[in-house]
Amino acid sequence: MGKILVIGSLNMDMVIKVSNTPKPGETVMGKSIQYIPGGKGANQAYAAAKLGGDVAMIGAVGKDDHGDLLVNNLLDVGVDTCGIKKADMNTGLAVIYVNKAGENCIVVLAGANDTVNKAQIDELHSYIEDSEWIILQMEIPKKTVEYVIKKAASLNKKIILNPAPAPENFPDELFGMLEIITPNETELEKLTKMHVNSMDEITLAAKELNKKGVSQVIVTCGKNGALLFNSKGKFQYSAPKVTAVDTTAAGDTFTAALAVALSENKTMREAIRFANKAASISVTRSGAQSSIPSKEEVN
Ligand code: RIB
Repeated sequence: MGKILVIGSLNMDMVIKVSNTPKPGETVMGKSIQYIPGGKGANQAYAAAKLGGDVAMIGAVGKDDHGDLLVNNLLDVGVDTCGIKKADMNTGLAVIYVNKAGENCIVVLAGANDTVNKAQIDELHSYIEDSEWIILQMEIPKKTVEYVIKKAASLNKKIILNPAPAPENFPDELFGMLEIITPNETELEKLTKMHVNSMDEITLAAKELNKKGVSQVIVTCGKNGALLFNSKGKFQYSAPKVTAVDTTAAGDTFTAALAVALSENKTMREAIRFANKAASISVTRSGAQSSIPSKEEVN
């Protein structure tokens, strides 16, 4: 099995359940509050390990209780956390509203995540060398993400970019260094500046990213499953029908599950099916890491 390295964010999620998310100027009453381990990077590392992968993570937390809790949660599922440094800043925090339809809106305060820099990546160069798959998102500084992509590509590593939150401008030269990109519809729209209001429009936008050089463009489409666009054309994969209570970390679970299946030499079709199932289970439960299923559950 190929090793998976996740380089990215760790956040403590402050999750507030509401009936409806507030509009600008509106005050609404919350129903409950919970603190749950999250952060796109940590969610992906946690999910990849829980789903059977051989996983290490590079990132940063603060010297505080939240930081300890986040690292311990990753250790519990067997993630190698030696690459997570302790910075003189608060651990990242995400404020998440979840409405009665299970939809969320999220505000992230990066905190220690902002300290993940080139020097840390260079110090941990051997982690990149030893891995087959490198997973990245966009909650650490963009220049660090770009640096990792160039470094990993020069070492012929397979790079998966989950472009969340979607960057304003992403250098065109980097697309050709990505094996896989996994945007949701909103992120695809922002990355391509194209409309994505129908499957035909999503296909055209995915084709655009493939033309820019990404080998496998996989768009996660919520309850409609996933769309793959590669040199052979377009393929659609439906997701199991479930009742969603909280969609937080569904995309993270999808990206991680995909990487695990591919690291086990599964075909792309098998990997997307596995990822669709894992993400579908995650939306039936509350929270980020608290919602992520094990490999046994998915199988
Ligand atoms: O993708 C979900 C994650 O986004 C949450 O866990 C939150 O921390 C934000 O990073």
